[in-house]
Amino acid sequence: MSKSSTDIHWNERAVLEPDAAAVNIADVSQRELETAFLLRHLCPVDKVLEVGCGNGFLTGILRQTVAHVDAFDFAENMVAKAIELQGERNNRFFHDNVLAPGAWNGPYDAIVCVRVLINLRDLEEQKRAIDHMTRALRPGGRLLLIEGYKDGFGELNRVRETAGLDRLQPAAINFYSALGDVRAHLDPFYTIEAEFHTGCFDFLTRVVYPALVGADKAVAHSEFHRRILPVARAFNPDAFASLARLRGYSLIKRQA
Ligand SMILES: C[S@@+](CC[C@H](N)C(=O)[O-])C[C@H]1O[C@@H](n2cnc3c(N)ncnc32)[C@H](O)[C@@H]1O
Repeated sequence: MSKSSTDIHWNERAVLEPDAAAVNIADVSQRELETAFLLRHLCPVDKVLEVGCGNGFLTGILRQTVAHVDAFDFAENMVAKAIELQGERNNRFFHDNVLAPGAWNGPYDAIVCVRVLINLRDLEEQKRAIDHMTRALRPGGRLLLIEGYKDGFGELNRVRETAGLDRLQPAAINFYSALGDVRAHLDPFYTIEAEFHTGCFDFLTRVVYPALVGADKAVAHSEFHRRILPVARAFNPDAFASLARLRGYSLIKRQA
């Protein structure tokens, strides 16, 4: 299957970004919120498939909590880095494509997919990836899906405008679907066990922080992100969900 410009971006980033913790996501504080949600919904006996594992940073954490992780990525350099940095213990790293899987060894108890669908070309590819994951999951198993949707950007920008801030533009390498379109594809096959969103974190880091220091200075992960992390962890009411760039779901696959 041919590679998109987004695929090429990730393959290059694997070797160009020197900080291994920031290769898959520059906002390492956001990652802490995501990971806490994932770990709440994984069990020690689980055999897990990790989709789009990047350089294996998350795999190194997941494998401490579960029985086994099969982790793959479409970027060859990411897989090579994952093997080099993490090695293989109760996990396996391999090259594969969520759109045309060849080396999965299901059925899995849980599938973890974090910020991968946004790297596909469009909603049709996102739906195809979901179908492959659904087939690989055992009935009663969990799909842990954390992705970005265009709804959050719209609301966040509305609030940014009240602070005199420019609109946030989603990264050009990403494709954001409407949450409702993805949910409509998931709902026939899954029940929702738990939900997660980054609303308070996004309000603080993408509205309050740039309003304080100036949008031109609020372009990267900073000490501010680190300091407000305990607040975003402890206080994240549903009222903030509409501002969230990221939504997470623990989804239980319905019995056939
Ligand atoms: C934003 S990174 C996230 C990495 C990892 N999930 C994490 O949270 O650390 C997205 C990853 O998805 C991978 N990816 C994109 N399209 C893919 C595909 N069709 N199949 C498998 N992996 C893919 C990219 O190569 C990249 O490593």
